[in-house]
Amino acid sequence: MALPRGCLPLVAVFLATICRAEAAVRELKVGYYAETCPGAEDIVRETIARARAREARSVASVMRLQFHDCFVNGCDGSVLMDDTPTMLGEKEALSNINSLRSFEVIDEAKEALEEHCPGVVSCADIVVVAARDAVVLTGGPNWEVRLGREDSLTASQEDSDNIMPSPRANASALIRLFANLNLTVTDLVALSGSHSIGEARCFSIVFRLYNQSGSGRPDPNMDATYRNALDTLCPRGGDEEVTGGMDATPVIFDNQYFKDLVGLRGFLNSDQTLFSDNARTRRVVKQFSEDQDAFFRAFVKGMIKMGELQNPVKGEIRHNCRVANGSPTEVVASHAVDL
Ligand code: HEM
Ligand SMILES: *[C@@H]1O[C@H](CO)[C@@H](O)[C@H](O)[C@H]1NC(C)=O
Ligand SMILES: *[C@@H]1O[C@H](CO)[C@@H](O)[C@H](O)[C@H]1NC(C)=O
Ligand SMILES: *[C@@H]1O[C@H](CO)[C@@H](O)[C@H](O)[C@H]1NC(C)=O
Repeated sequence: MALPRGCLPLVAVFLATICRAEAAVRELKVGYYAETCPGAEDIVRETIARARAREARSVASVMRLQFHDCFVNGCDGSVLMDDTPTMLGEKEALSNINSLRSFEVIDEAKEALEEHCPGVVSCADIVVVAARDAVVLTGGPNWEVRLGREDSLTASQEDSDNIMPSPRANASALIRLFANLNLTVTDLVALSGSHSIGEARCFSIVFRLYNQSGSGRPDPNMDATYRNALDTLCPRGGDEEVTGGMDATPVIFDNQYFKDLVGLRGFLNSDQTLFSDNARTRRVVKQFSEDQDAFFRAFVKGMIKMGELQNPVKGEIRHNCRVANGSPTEVVASHAVDL
């Protein structure tokens, strides 16, 4: 990994601290590309709308990319990088392998932007704009995003493995994880409401259907009718790649997710735990289940906070979201995208 001058290759926590003085945190602003790439946000929105027309789920998959990008060393497009012979990227990290998807939608937006104004719009910004558009297109709230992020030169599978939460996580572990990034209990619950859209695999829930916490029994916090439906979708020993909607209305962004949690119809353990295991998160789940506007307002706040987590290390504007500029694999990778 290339370090800026003056940085010592210590552990990541120290690195961030030592480099901060050198690589000033970038100031993000609304309309950042107004002069350098007018229409940039329209191009992203049109790409996301086309993707949705091809496959309704794709917008949820794109929205999830913001979470997996921003939580691992800030919103720096690192999640988009392919592995290279010398770098294990984040795509095959525990939470991402066989699961994160729709990278080609980001590629499509990037290609259109490179044609329109080459070398200007970062992949990290595309992800954040695309996530907002995904929410709007599925019926959720709209908001302005501040832009001006840079793309990282590297990605880290190890950091992703260490940071990203498991679907088995309980509320107290999730509260702690979010607090590490200055995200509150309300942010945690609101952002989990992103599971109002999209699907998850049986792989992510079979443990809670058949062997919750090694008990040999299902999670007791499940409505019986709902559990029967999940047992049918995900039979013991069945195909764990089969997917199911994460709430009762998986292509509409609404507060159904919270109504489902109150009704013990959460899909993931990490969803149901927010209602069933912790008084602080339960209070917020209840509130959002009764007040969609309150959910939307808190969601926007949370997305903005999460979307402004920065990587303090100096980056670049990648030409191809999958590879660092000038990398030996850049040429090969851009051909792969064209196929
Ligand atoms: C709170 C901790 C969270 C956990 C433990 C978690 C875990 C998961 C898991 C396990 C899946 C399904 C993966 C699979 O089976 O392939 C999933 C899907 C998804 N997650 Fe999360 N998630 C969390 C928070 C978030 C946040 C903060 C966002 C975005 C703001 C988000 C957005 C999504 C979306 C949209 C999907 C569906 C993606 C698709 O259909 O392709 N999640 N999440
Ligand atoms: C939550 O999960 C953490 C980490 O896996 C574990 O140490 C803790 O005991 C769990 N807490 C509860 C209340 O189950
Ligand atoms: C959280 O906030 C503290 C105090 O404002 C700040 O020093 C720290 O860098 C923040 N952490 C992150 C990950 O943004
Ligand atoms: C359930 O989980 C426990 C602990 O993780 C494990 O020892 C046990 O073999 C599992 N049982 C089944 C039926 O998979």
